[in-house]
Amino acid sequence: MRTYLVTGGAGFIGSNYIRYILKKYGSSIAVINLDKLTYAGNLENLQDVSESFSEQYTFVKGDICDRELVSGLFRKYEIDRVVHFAAESHVDRSIRDPESFVVTNVLGTLTLLNAAKEAWSESDGSFQPGKKFLHVSTDEVYGSLGETGYFYETTPYDPHSPYSASKASSDMLVKSYMDTYGFPANITNCSNNYGPYQFPEKLIPLMICNALAGRELPVYGDGLNVRDWLYVEDHVRGIDMVQEKGRLFETYNIGGHNEKTNIDIVRTVIKVLREQLDDRDSRKERITEDLICYVEDRKGHDRRYAIAPDKIRKEVGWYPETDFEDGIRKTVSWYLQNEQWKDHILNGAYQSYYDEMYGRRERM
Ligand code: NAD
Ligand code: DAU
Repeated sequence: MRTYLVTGGAGFIGSNYIRYILKKYGSSIAVINLDKLTYAGNLENLQDVSESFSEQYTFVKGDICDRELVSGLFRKYEIDRVVHFAAESHVDRSIRDPESFVVTNVLGTLTLLNAAKEAWSESDGSFQPGKKFLHVSTDEVYGSLGETGYFYETTPYDPHSPYSASKASSDMLVKSYMDTYGFPANITNCSNNYGPYQFPEKLIPLMICNALAGRELPVYGDGLNVRDWLYVEDHVRGIDMVQEKGRLFETYNIGGHNEKTNIDIVRTVIKVLREQLDDRDSRKERITEDLICYVEDRKGHDRRYAIAPDKIRKEVGWYPETDFEDGIRKTVSWYLQNEQWKDHILNGAYQSYYDEMYGRRERM
């Protein structure tokens, strides 16, 4: 049986990844999900998984910066794969509070690297065969594009926000461990994800939730910044394929070939919500473009991101299967069918889920 240590598995992409690998590999794998449960961590994202895969899935509440805890996990379990999602992930928050981004994204990654290196090292300095560390990173490390061009794996790093600077630092640490120690790792840099279980601070779920509540839809600046949208299920499939078919020590960019301006995204969300809401739903008539409200621009706002996912397509055989029209319909539909999930976030109830599920059991 192969054992995965997934960090940040209670967040948006991590929870989709855990669901994907458990459905794909079933009883041939075990998954340990290490998550601090910050505001972005939500165990309701994995309620179905913890019920259906109770034998293979273990949740550990903890901080990736906690050296004792992380090393202890490597002593307790025979970990074969580390898939590292845990991070502070929201650019606007990083502008207000850069320090927590450096602590988790940089020092936390260093702590994980050290624990894995120590656990996986042989006495001659080589690494036990089959061990792999996958560091999940972002296209934001490459900076901002003009109207043309793409990010390639060879594009020089040029981060602009405290978030992307902290992710760039963590990437550099992983690269340095590969180069210095021959540490068995890969890095993936992907574009903007969307889909089920995304915390409603990011553009698409924020627009869905605000529109349903009849609140304004804040568009930064002129609304013409461009992002390259990737459906989360395509992303997690790509991460799995890189581990299975990618060359060790390589970086792979993962992008959706779905460039859209922000204002296009907001208009599409309004259109799809109107298509999917029942005519008897009183919220429907309020959801119009009148809710759109242009607000002050984000500081240091990158203009355009776009990935050329040529290397991963050629070497690994991955390409994005979900086109945006399809992905956004599935996403809006998921949010409409899971309003309780959204309401628990909006009223804070999701943060007591851990105590209800695990706290009571621990105290007995
Ligand atoms: P998220 O904010 O939804 O989830 C992050 C998770 O990490 C949460 O469950 C949180 O509790 C956990 N966490 C935070 N600090 C921790 C710590 N110190 N110790 C343990 N757990 C901690 O993030 P996401 O959108 O799912 O992103 C996951 C990863 O993918 C991040 O590394 C992010 O940089 C990267 N990424 C995200 C996107 C995107 O569009 N969302 C795109 C490219 C790359
Ligand atoms: O590119 C990958 C990155 O995508 C990830 O590394 C980050 O973790 C993830 O948060 C995301 O970063 P962005 O800053 O691109 O995503 P966000 O959803 O915050 O914003 C998308 C665009 O929408 C961006 O140009 C800012 C704009 N925006 C965002 C919000 C929240 C608005 O216009 N209004 C808003 O209210």
